[in-house]
Amino acid sequence: MNKILITGGAGFIGSNFIHYILSKYDSYQVINLDKLTYAANLDNLKDIESNKNYKFIHGNIVDKEFIFRLFEDEKFDIVINFAAESHVDNSILNPQIFTITNIFGTQVLLDACKKYNIKRFHQVSTDEVYGDLPLYDKSLLFTEKTPLNPSSPYSASKASAD
Ligand SMILES: NC(=O)c1ccc[n+]([C@@H]2O[C@H](COP(=O)([O-])OP(=O)(O)OC[C@H]3O[C@@H](n4cnc5c(N)ncnc54)[C@H](O)[C@@H]3O)[C@@H](O)[C@H]2O)c1
Repeated sequence: MNKILITGGAGFIGSNFIHYILSKYDSYQVINLDKLTYAANLDNLKDIESNKNYKFIHGNIVDKEFIFRLFEDEKFDIVINFAAESHVDNSILNPQIFTITNIFGTQVLLDACKKYNIKRFHQVSTDEVYGDLPLYDKSLLFTEKTPLNPSSPYSASKASAD
């Protein structure tokens, strides 16, 4: 049985991913760690609350002491970081929380992965780290070789975490 830490699992994409992984595999135990910001919705996970392979923990990825204790106790095999401040417009009005959660929070998780020898860490990024595609030419695409060109505090914080 592999134990996966999913951060930000009460959000839009994370909650869908948790449904996906629990319905497709019996061999994963999922721990969903979420700070429950305005963007979270635990109602989206009600149907799996009693699943024996699922557990919810309320917490903040920025809190190093808490995160290190959690890694010590739970002994994860895999970490997938969905947790983020994710709304571009909010990042223009209040960039600081984007720096704290998206950059420092990722750093704390990476430090914990290093200390506790986690064999696999997935960072969920965004296409916005590459900037904007022009509308006039649909053949233009981003690739992983495209230079980073973030254009908002949100996308700059995601590029920094990458
Ligand atoms: N939605 C999109 O279109 C999109 C596109 C590309 C990439 N992404 C990325 O995918 C990931 C998930 O996006 P989403 O749309 O589900 O976001 P979301 O805003 O719906 O969910 C984010 C979740 O993270 C939690 N969270 C925020 N700060 C936290 C913290 N400090 N500690 C623990 N949990 C915290 C929130 O409570 C929320 O449940 C993000 O990393 C985002 O940057 C999203």
